[in-house]
Amino acid sequence: MVDGYYIGQMSGTSLDGIDTAIIEIQNGRCTLIEKHSFKWPQDIEQRLRNLIEQGNSLDEMLQLDQLCAQYFSQAALECLKKTQLHPVDVKAIGCHGQTIRHSPNSDPAYSLQIGNANRIAEITGITTISDFRSRDIAAGGQGAPLAPAFHAAVFRHSEKRRVVLNIGGIANITILTDEELKGYDTGPGNRLLDDWIRRCKNLPYDKNGAFAASGKTNSFLLSNLLNDPYFQLAAPKSTGSDYFNLNWLQQHLNNFSDEAEENIQATLALLTAISIGDQIKQAVKHCDEVLVCGGGVHNTFLMKLIEQQLPNSIITSTETFGIHPDWVEAMAFAWLAQQTLSGLPGNAAKVTGAKGTRICGAIFQN
Ligand SMILES: Nc1ncnc2c1ncn2[C@@H]1O[C@H](COP(=O)(O)OP(=O)(O)O)[C@@H](O)[C@H]1O
Ligand SMILES: [Mg+2]
Repeated sequence: MVDGYYIGQMSGTSLDGIDTAIIEIQNGRCTLIEKHSFKWPQDIEQRLRNLIEQGNSLDEMLQLDQLCAQYFSQAALECLKKTQLHPVDVKAIGCHGQTIRHSPNSDPAYSLQIGNANRIAEITGITTISDFRSRDIAAGGQGAPLAPAFHAAVFRHSEKRRVVLNIGGIANITILTDEELKGYDTGPGNRLLDDWIRRCKNLPYDKNGAFAASGKTNSFLLSNLLNDPYFQLAAPKSTGSDYFNLNWLQQHLNNFSDEAEENIQATLALLTAISIGDQIKQAVKHCDEVLVCGGGVHNTFLMKLIEQQLPNSIITSTETFGIHPDWVEAMAFAWLAQQTLSGLPGNAAKVTGAKGTRICGAIFQN
């Protein structure tokens, strides 16, 4: 393994911005050195949203690929500035990029993250690794989720039966109860909650779940939403916000046009909690601890609903185990960069469904 400093960058489906983490890896131990959050400029966020939802201009995508690279570079350099480190001290940046499409079940399957790594390598002077998902997809996998191998590296416990739950725009679980690593996307995380409150109140997210908490669940709508085939699909499986988004919700709302806005938010929160809870119960006979990371951990109402779904497990933030929940995914991509540089696999074949483990990502050397 190539020990040293690594930068990881994640900009998830919530489109809330770029999370950057600098970590030090020594003999397999990962320590968070510095972190930085960078909000997309408003016009870029809007252009990304349009591209993901409509996707009708190739030139627009290519421009955003380059523009996002500039912002990823800026975010990485800003994070580095907070430390004593210089670009030459960093072995590599692992940049997830911004997902524009994730279509692992089409024929042929594909997944696209933008944020041109040639440009990031050029601006930062740091070797940059990107396009982590494509090799796994080429090997027949879902290309996602990729964080489980990192979750296992830092959170596995010899006696406790643990599940790691990441609530980003989409929620995913990593099952650490058996020797063989398992995990998959359970479906919506924050994305539907964000979309609905943006639509109703022009707010970016439902702070602490207060809007959802003010409503009452509509059980007809809930069972309608839970009927989506994705929830019953067997693993390996992955999804994206190009599927679970406002369009998806609106298709289901046709017969509920009189329902109060807050009741819809309450129903979406319960949908998220039930889909997560059910799939954890299905995947694991008994789970001692659910370690939660991602922005959803701050949604206190949602966390309460998840606790109600899993009364026999302790539901706690990854912070309890030494890693702040906001930085786990960015750290995962720093760790994945280290795997790639070391010639080690990044995917867990059982998780993604690939034919085998693969060295993931393309290296843009400096
Ligand atoms: N205090 C909070 N209350 C409710 N939701 C929150 C809070 N803080 C963050 N979030 C949610 O977390 C999301 C960002 O989570 P993140 O893990 O960055 O997702 P992604 O990886 O998809 O970008 C926000 O869009 C929001 O929905
Ligand atoms: Mg984010």
